[in-house]
Amino acid sequence: MKIMNVQPSEVSIPKDLEKQLIGYDWHKVNIGWSRSKIYKLTRKNKSTLFLKINRYSGDLFFNHEYDMLSWLKGKVSVPDIIYHSKNSDNEFLLLTEILGEVSYEVFSRSDIEANLKILAKGLQIFHTLPLGNCPNKIDLDTMIQHAKERLEQGKINSKNFDVRWKHKTPYELFEDVKRLIPRRIEKVVTHGDYCLPNVMIHEGELSGFVDLGCAGINDRYYDLAAITWSISYNFGEKWLPFFFENYGINYDEIDRERLLFYQMLNEFIEF
Ligand SMILES: Nc1ncnc2c1ncn2[C@@H]1O[C@H](COP(=O)(O)OP(=O)(O)O)[C@@H](O)[C@H]1O
Ligand SMILES: [Mg+2]
Repeated sequence: MKIMNVQPSEVSIPKDLEKQLIGYDWHKVNIGWSRSKIYKLTRKNKSTLFLKINRYSGDLFFNHEYDMLSWLKGKVSVPDIIYHSKNSDNEFLLLTEILGEVSYEVFSRSDIEANLKILAKGLQIFHTLPLGNCPNKIDLDTMIQHAKERLEQGKINSKNFDVRWKHKTPYELFEDVKRLIPRRIEKVVTHGDYCLPNVMIHEGELSGFVDLGCAGINDRYYDLAAITWSISYNFGEKWLPFFFENYGINYDEIDRERLLFYQMLNEFIEF
């Protein structure tokens, strides 16, 4: 983690926010893959804070972090919002810290098992929340339409595709997406980016969730597609049956086409 004693020159923040951050040391966090900038802010005798600067672009389909953090507060463990503002390019979120380590930090096989149990339980917590008044609803047709527009505008580059379909052109992959459109979906409250870096574990217990910009009512398989990819990437595919058993679905009964559908569709969406 890069540490800076003062606000780095690459960041320009609103004056009222700057005042709140006097005396904090800035540490750039390089864990996430999004275009957001994240800084861990520390100061002696003060609680650690996180500043998340979400970049706006006309392309961004998911941008609901403030609304969803506010709605999830008190329902599941998420950061509190200390400060929030927007300008034409950026959104600024000053957040309290979720204690602990990212859930891919493991030192042994038994750590992997313990973390996978926590990840399964964490996902069940989301997926059993009542849907009432959830401020973000993700509609499948709208998501596909958005993907199609970005494809037709030439914004998709197959160089960035997952290795499984890197050999395909964007148009070929989009044909696969259309072939796999699910006939049945199950609407639940989803985290929206349920991968290992977004789930924090403290002293062997689930501590909380971060990165809620894509959260909202969506197909349960949207999250299952993300966690399947993330577990395979971090721990290996062989752990998937163990995760699903703890989540409550027999691995043999997983709808693999639906998992693939969302993993492929996400190649067309900007995060
Ligand atoms: N409030 C927070 N408390 C603890 N850690 C955080 C917090 N916000 C962000 N992080 C850390 O920073 C990382 C990146 O933040 P995240 O919101 O996931 O951004 P990105 O959209 O770039 O993935 C997270 O994986 C986590 O390790
Ligand atoms: Mg993240």
